[in-house]
Order: sequence, then structure tokens, then C-alpha cells
Amino acid sequence: MTPMIVHTREELKSAIAHANPKSLGFVPTMGALHEGHERLFDKARAENELVVISIFVNELQFNDAQDYANYPRDLDTDLVMATRAGVDIVFAPPAEEIYHAGKPLIQLHSGILGEMYEGASRPGHFDGMLAVVAKLLHLADPRQGEYRAYFGQKDAQQLALIRRMVADLDYQVELCSVPIVRSAKGLALSSRNALLNAEQLEAALVLHRAIELIASRAARHEPLNIDDALGLFQMEPSVELDYFVVVDPNTLQELAFICQDTPFTGEALILVAAKVGGVRLIDNQPI
Ligand code: PAJ
Repeated sequence: MTPMIVHTREELKSAIAHANPKSLGFVPTMGALHEGHERLFDKARAENELVVISIFVNELQFNDAQDYANYPRDLDTDLVMATRAGVDIVFAPPAEEIYHAGKPLIQLHSGILGEMYEGASRPGHFDGMLAVVAKLLHLADPRQGEYRAYFGQKDAQQLALIRRMVADLDYQVELCSVPIVRSAKGLALSSRNALLNAEQLEAALVLHRAIELIASRAARHEPLNIDDALGLFQMEPSVELDYFVVVDPNTLQELAFICQDTPFTGEALILVAAKVGGVRLIDNQPI
């Protein structure tokens, strides 16, 4: 069945109240949906009576106006995927509906966790992301019954920040996550991949190759020697590396000491970001 499409907060509220579900699974997105999003919808579908998704390209989390202008938008195709995944309600608000009082005066600050990695390269990005997620989690809240929200591990730093926000501000929602969905060749699926040509898509595979190199050493408890991963990027001049780091999976603090000659033990997370043809790509893998 085609999902119900609502554009205003009032419509969303009454659609949820009318369904009166025992459990609600909510998946916030920025649209240009792909199989990564679909995996979140599937999990929400399997675990809840009512599935609500939002499609909203949140200008506040774009530090670069050009990136915001270029961000792919295709509501008709998105609705086909939402229908296929059995989504019940699609909330697709115009910007005035979310920022009805203009840019919020009262703002969330993502703190030290939002200043590293993506935050260092995209100032204000995580504060803007939290601003919208904080609102959306309220707007989709069924007020009674079970309430779950679904996020992808692809955006590891985003997920860590949302976990902190939910804990710090006592949101009554259970957070659920899904592992990264990749193309057959290993590229992490992303709405931004639609902006790459065939050559750039091929070059972008270096992110996954570098991760795999280090992850396989970690699996064998060998020294990680991440310089070798950096070397792979040097061989791919069309790819501009931003960071390739091994971090603590909870605090995201860099574990510089395990990157060198000592055999690897314990748990960590590889984080990488790079630009290909001006398009920013991120990837990660737990080790
Ligand atoms: P967007 O990039 O559309 O992603 C929506 C959700 O899909 C996020 O939780 C993201 O981690 C997940 N996702 C994207 N690609 C994935 C992949 N290859 N595998 C698994 N999950 C994937 O993230 C955002 O939108 C926004 O920041 C948002 C949270 C909606 C706030 O505006």
C-alpha cells in the first residue's frame, strides 16, 4: 500500500494518533533513498506496528551552501522505495514547518564529540544535525506505546552524538542501529554517490580498500601500521583524504598508540573521510 504522505506537524500528529499503535518505528532521512535507508525501514517494519519516516533536507546541517544546493532530491522515487518497504507514514515537511519560528534561538551544542573529524571539517554540521533530530524525535513521538528510532552505523559520529543527546536530554525513545550497507564492490551507499561519475565511483573504492587492509590486520592481531592505508590514498590522486583514524568506539578519541608497531588487541573503530570530485564521502568499520 502507498504510504500516507503528510507535510505538516499537525497532520503527522493526527495520523499517528489515529493509528494509535502499540509500537512506532521512526526513521529520519534526507531523502534520495537507497538500500542503506531501506535496511533501516525493513528493521523498523519488522519491529513495530507503525513505521514513520521523514524526508527533510535540513539546511541547518549544511555548512556549505553549494553542498546544500547540490544535494540530490527526488521525492517521487523515494515514495516508490517507501512503498516497497511497507512504510506507513512519510513526513515530508517544507522548511517553514520545521523552522516555524526561524532559525532556532535556543540551540544544542554538540560539544567536544561534535568538534572532531566530521565536525572539524564541517563546522556547525553536528549542531545543525542535532537541532533537527531533536525536533523530529518529538514530532514522531507516539506519546504512548513503544517508541523506537533507527539510525545507520554509516554515520558513526552522528550516531554517537544522537546517543549522547538522547541520554543527556532524557528522550523517551529506544535507539536502534543497522550496519553499513555497501555496493557489491564495497562502496558504502550514500545519497551523495549519485553525484559521482563512473570513474569517480571506481576511485572512491579506495576508502573501503584502506579499511579492509587495516581491518584484516586487526583480525589477525597484527600491528596495524596505518601508514600503509595512507599509502593507498597516495596512489589515488583524484581522492583527497581528510582523515583515516583508529578510534575508541565509545568516546571516538583517537587511539594513536595502536596504529604503529604493536600487535592489535581490543576493540576500536576505523573512521575515514575523503573527497572525490568535490563530493565528501565517509566510511567506517569496527575492528
Ligand atoms: P541521511 O544521510 O538521509 O541518512 C538517514 C539514515 O540512513 C542515517 O541514520 C544514516 O546513517 C543511514 N544510512 C545512510 N547510508 C547508509 C548505509 N550505506 N548503510 C546504513 N545506513 C545508512 O543522516 C541523515 O540523513 C541526517 O543527518 C538526519 C539524521 C536525517 C538528520 O537530518
